[in-house]
Amino acid sequence: MAMITTVQQHILQQQQEMLKSTGREPTGTFSWLLSGITLAAKMIEAKIRSAGLSDVYGAFGAENVQGEQQQKLDVYANQALLHCLGLRDSVAALVSEEDEEPVTFNRDAETGKYIIVFDPLDGSSNIDVNVNVGTIFSVLRRMPAELGTLEESILQPGFRQVAAGYVVYGPSTVLVYTTGNGVHGFTLDPTIGAFVLSNEKMRMPEQGSYYSVNEANAAGWPEEYRAYVEMLRTGGLQKEYSSRYIGSLVADFHRTLLKGGVFLYPPTLKQPKGKLRLLYEANPLAFIAEQAGGMATYGAGRILDIKPEGIHQRTPFCVGSRREMEALVAAVSPAATSASAR
Ligand code: F6P
Repeated sequence: MAMITTVQQHILQQQQEMLKSTGREPTGTFSWLLSGITLAAKMIEAKIRSAGLSDVYGAFGAENVQGEQQQKLDVYANQALLHCLGLRDSVAALVSEEDEEPVTFNRDAETGKYIIVFDPLDGSSNIDVNVNVGTIFSVLRRMPAELGTLEESILQPGFRQVAAGYVVYGPSTVLVYTTGNGVHGFTLDPTIGAFVLSNEKMRMPEQGSYYSVNEANAAGWPEEYRAYVEMLRTGGLQKEYSSRYIGSLVADFHRTLLKGGVFLYPPTLKQPKGKLRLLYEANPLAFIAEQAGGMATYGAGRILDIKPEGIHQRTPFCVGSRREMEALVAAVSPAATSASAR
């Protein structure tokens, strides 16, 4: 019988490799922390699976910090993550898309060494129509007190992430994560209730066949983005691209990771700083993309180099295969500099 590898076993194996290469003894804290995320993901997936049978579709009746209608499932997903992670001793702060301020815990820096930033249920507008949604997370290490406050630790640039990942609730439930040593994918096996390794060392194809963007916004993009998309459509990169856009970032990103291509959320006239959130959307996906051989930019530079100024900061976000991304960077850099968030 072929033996399975669960996500917990995989993390422990990765830590053993780290022990061999760095001599640093794994503490087990980190795998315990990530098990909080997988537990919450299983709770969220169970709720989503039975959404039509229980009263969880629809609006909760309040707006979140973004001024968006909170869906009941948004609220449930947020509570599941806060509950599962808040109990872990190693957590110093939890930062959620749904909460205006970070939730902090009074734990000394030795014990409470991690900060988890997350979007509990991304793509909420797709919930009620049974289309894929996801959870995105990013893990940061708290800086020692002499180097910075907890708030400064939360606002570290993306290249300092120690782990990042997402869960896509689709025909199957898939978890993808990186700790900076490649990208690994797991599929939830509902018969045993565990995420089982299904894609080890994932690589984004060098070039794909799809671009993914909300074209309804095209009139408001900087001209360079319109020209770039037109170039993809008309064979400028040796093939005529087709388009795919789900409107759930996790699902659009997951396809781009597996099949290659490019996902774009450019600045628009209405949203010159972009729409997507730096800390819990762009950063974790940029980390994963780079670890898989792809690239991510806000138009004028690397996403992971942005120094965040606020926890809910927005950014233009373009991510994808190397071929498309190099062409994009060459096409849009000057325009994006003036239109970007900085
Ligand atoms: O940030 C939330 C989100 O729903 C993402 O999941 C998605 O990529 C994007 O917004 C869709 O935005 P729009 O409806 O403007 O295309």
